Parts: sequence; structure tokens; C-alpha cells
Amino acid sequence: MALLGVNIDHVATIRQARRTVEPDPVWAAALAELGGADGITVHLREDRRHIQDRDLEVLRRTVQVKLNLEAAIAPAMVDIACRIRPDQVTLVPERREEVTTEGGLDVVGHREATAAAVARLRDAGIVVSLFIDPDPRQIEMAADLAVAAVELHTGEYANAATDTARHDELVRLARAAALVREVKLVLNAGHGLTYRNVVPVARLDGMHELNIGHSIVSRAVLVGFTQAVREMKSLVC
Ligand code: PXP
Repeated sequence: MALLGVNIDHVATIRQARRTVEPDPVWAAALAELGGADGITVHLREDRRHIQDRDLEVLRRTVQVKLNLEAAIAPAMVDIACRIRPDQVTLVPERREEVTTEGGLDVVGHREATAAAVARLRDAGIVVSLFIDPDPRQIEMAADLAVAAVELHTGEYANAATDTARHDELVRLARAAALVREVKLVLNAGHGLTYRNVVPVARLDGMHELNIGHSIVSRAVLVGFTQAVREMKSLVC
């Protein structure tokens, strides 16, 4: 089975709703480690809508497992990554108006910019992964760019409306996974994975690591809600 990278962006989303100090994603990272997370993942977006520079700096000093930074290929983001030196950088596409990452990075269409970002990160001694669609052309280009790993975008699988569509997307992921193994890249996957849909993806041959965020944060809010209310009630009554 696969390793689990826990994406804590949406802990920061709750904090940023009030621009306050709680909940602190740094605390969430520590709790995720206690729960067995093999890695902590954060996406420092160019618009800083959730994770802030301070979070990344403190996480770099406190996370004991692998720290994976998701970042756009923009030179300013690569500068930050080279300064902070996470264990891994996953290059992702970014559009300001999107609610979440909407698809893989088009490394075929953005070959030169991706190659420049990869070279700088690799020179800084950082493991580079590319978040790409499960598309053979993207996988072959990732191999050409000599990165260490790819993260296959599982969003289409997660969003499939019918069992047939979900099955078709799983077959597509399995074929892509076979090609990733063939070109000898590390196989990661993520996006939209939940407690209900994760198992078939975790069982794909050679799956190394899954990055999961929204579903874990959503469940954490609910499983902790009763206790949080009980504690407040004990203060006010
Ligand atoms: N992997 C990548 C590259 C992502 O951009 C995201 C979302 O930030 C995830 C995984 C996690 O997706 P989700 O929050 O849907 O689990």
C-alpha cells in the first residue's frame, strides 16, 4: 500500500476566513504526524489564499517527516522553494480564479518554463515531482525532463458521475501508472481522493505516495465537533 502525504492547506483556509491565528496549520501538521502521516504537503499559492510564507518557514523547521511543497513554475515561487528547501517540490498549474487545482500541469505545452524550474530546484538539491494528468504524452515529457517523480491527477476519477465513468478513469490511471513505472519515475497520485474512493488508487501497482487534503480536513472538523461544543458548553453553563 501507499504512503500518505497529508495536505493541510484547508486548515489554513479556515484560519484565513478570519485572518486570525487559529487553527494553526503547524499544529495540524504535528497532529497529522502523530496520526501516522508519512509526509506533510502544503501549496503556497501565489495569491496566498491559505498557506502563508510564515507557515512554510515554521513547517520547514518543525516537520519531522517529508515536507512536500506544491508550487507554480513561476520564478518567484521557485525562488522561495530554493530558499526554504523542502524535501520535495511538486510543480502544479495555477490560475488565480480557480477554486482548487483543476488539472495537471501541461508539461508538454510549458516545456521550457518547466525545464527551467526543474533545473533550478534540482541544483538546490530538492527532489522534483510534476503534477500531471494520466496522459502518456505528459508522462513521457516528465521522463525527458528527468524529474524524480510524477503525481498523477486523480480529479477526473474522483469526479466521475457514474460507476462506468469511474471504472474507465481507474483503467486510465492504471495504464498511466504502468507507463510511469516503465520510464522509472516514482509514482504518486492525488486530488479529490476521499475515504470512499481512495482504496482502488492506493492499490495500483507501484503506487508510492498519495496526497490527500480536503477529505481529511473535512472529516477532522466533524469528528472533533462534538468535543469542541462540549468544552465550550462547560465554560458557559
Ligand atoms: N495533489 C495536488 C497536486 C494538489 O494540488 C492537491 C490540492 O491542493 C492535492 C493533491 C490534494 O487534493 P485534495 O485536497 O482534493 O485531497
